[in-house]
Amino acid sequence: MPRNTRILAAVFLIVSATFMSAQKPDAPGHEWWKRAVFYELYPRSFADSNNDGVGDLNGITSKMGYLRDLGVDAIWISPCFPSPQVDFGYDVSDYENIDPMYGTLKDFDAMAAEGKKKGVRIILDFVVNHSSDKHPWFIESSSSKTNPKRDWYIWRDGKPNGGPPNNWMSTFGGSAWKLDVRTGQFYYHYFYAEQPDLNWRNPEVQKAMYDVTRFWYKRGVSGFRLDAVDTLFEVPDLRDNQVLEGKNAYGDPITDEKFNKKLPEVHDVMRGLRKVADEHGAVLIGETWTDDIAELKEYYGTKNDEIQMPMNFMFTQVNKVSATDFRSQIAAAESTGQWPVWVISNHDIVRSYNRYGDGKNNDAIAKLMAAMYLTLRGTPIMYYGEELGMENNTPKRKEDVQDPIGRRGWPEEKGRDGERTPMQWSDAPNAGFSTVKPWLPVPNSYKTHNVATELKDPDSVLNFYKKVLALRHTNEVLTEGSYVPLNDADAKVLAYLRKYEGKAVLVVLNMSGAAHEVKLDLVAQGLSNANVQELVSTASKAQKGNAPLKVSLQPFGVYIAEITK
Ligand code: GLC
Repeated sequence: MPRNTRILAAVFLIVSATFMSAQKPDAPGHEWWKRAVFYELYPRSFADSNNDGVGDLNGITSKMGYLRDLGVDAIWISPCFPSPQVDFGYDVSDYENIDPMYGTLKDFDAMAAEGKKKGVRIILDFVVNHSSDKHPWFIESSSSKTNPKRDWYIWRDGKPNGGPPNNWMSTFGGSAWKLDVRTGQFYYHYFYAEQPDLNWRNPEVQKAMYDVTRFWYKRGVSGFRLDAVDTLFEVPDLRDNQVLEGKNAYGDPITDEKFNKKLPEVHDVMRGLRKVADEHGAVLIGETWTDDIAELKEYYGTKNDEIQMPMNFMFTQVNKVSATDFRSQIAAAESTGQWPVWVISNHDIVRSYNRYGDGKNNDAIAKLMAAMYLTLRGTPIMYYGEELGMENNTPKRKEDVQDPIGRRGWPEEKGRDGERTPMQWSDAPNAGFSTVKPWLPVPNSYKTHNVATELKDPDSVLNFYKKVLALRHTNEVLTEGSYVPLNDADAKVLAYLRKYEGKAVLVVLNMSGAAHEVKLDLVAQGLSNANVQELVSTASKAQKGNAPLKVSLQPFGVYIAEITK
């Protein structure tokens, strides 16, 4: 080889090796977060190492082995920063520390180190729209009209009659403006009055917030879940929103929120946060409530330069076990050409066990839901306890409610305590979470639905999750494969293939309370029935051999099989 060619070849090799190691740590062709299973945990409720009734970071550290064995690759921890806890951590008074209730920065480092050892990455929850009113930034900002931090929040004069600047309402009830008597101006808060909105039009705020992410990236976090991103901007001239018909749970008029939500400027900030994330190989997950798929698509960025993982909440709004509805939701997500993010519950939504359960077949339905969202193309985000079939424990009396919106909106809005109860570790008192009374009570079903009991039962919801999660991690068709819907007109059974390099995984889900037999034409998909190998199933079986493939399923049955050519 002539010398010049040799040099060129060497340069090519170095450049391509560098490029590949920077871009694609997890071959083939996918960033780590596309192959990962995420798990949201609510730190108040996950594990209580010091038995004070509230969970903590050392508790999380002690459960890393459980998370790894379950098949979790990354945990998103709801806010664990110093906070007056008005909104249970979503009112942050210091973005760069840990609330003493949860531990210290040293405990955080120990947790991250243990996570690293066990292969569990840490994702933190970044409350971008607002801080606590006890954050030093707001304390300064509210100290005088001329304070250098005055413009870090949204301050305005009231109307000449003394009323608030406009008709915008807080999503947690009442006006979105609060009068500060000291300076005679109102400040804007889309959430509680104790959560003043930051002014993202101010470059100093932007810089300070981007720096917060740098602080945590340097401490080893792998990304952020971005809280309430659609509320970041408001129109500067504060036009009134249009008032719609009716009243909400707080007795407030309903408005269209056109001028204080989903403003296009949000995307500039997403791009800014992404730029910093890219410097650290990190992932951004978005709390992206959207009305339609076009809106969701925007959050990926026109140049794929915004949020890598905007959560598809439209999926959580199906609220019934329906093959037709889920099929069209999946088709919509697929139509974006993007990487979908599947969620069925979180700390703001009634648990999936109750939303989808029919009261009789809840465990079967919990398995059915898992079989669906853990086998679709895309990344799933689990919610702690979902793997146990943990149920909602909605408060029965107003005086028991902790979540302020539940007290304000009772009885129509009962708050979010029900989906935030302690993780059920065993059948010991308080579900083994704590030796003292926990901050929220566990539901009675903890006696059967807990980690220790379910680990011993091969048919438990937990062991079903473990099986499907293990499959996701070992069968590359499930991470790499395309999604091919089957039997499109079937209103009862949702069936699809995942296909990758000549291999396929078949998923058949009976979304009804009656037994069904489905016929699947695999030959039309370029596959044969000869090599159908069952992987995971509940109450279902296939008759192999002749075409079409016949699968019979009991109520809410699941059939997952591998098909090789
Ligand atoms: C998000 C959080 C929710 C919180 C709100 C205000 O919607 O998920 O729990 O109350 O933001 O920060």
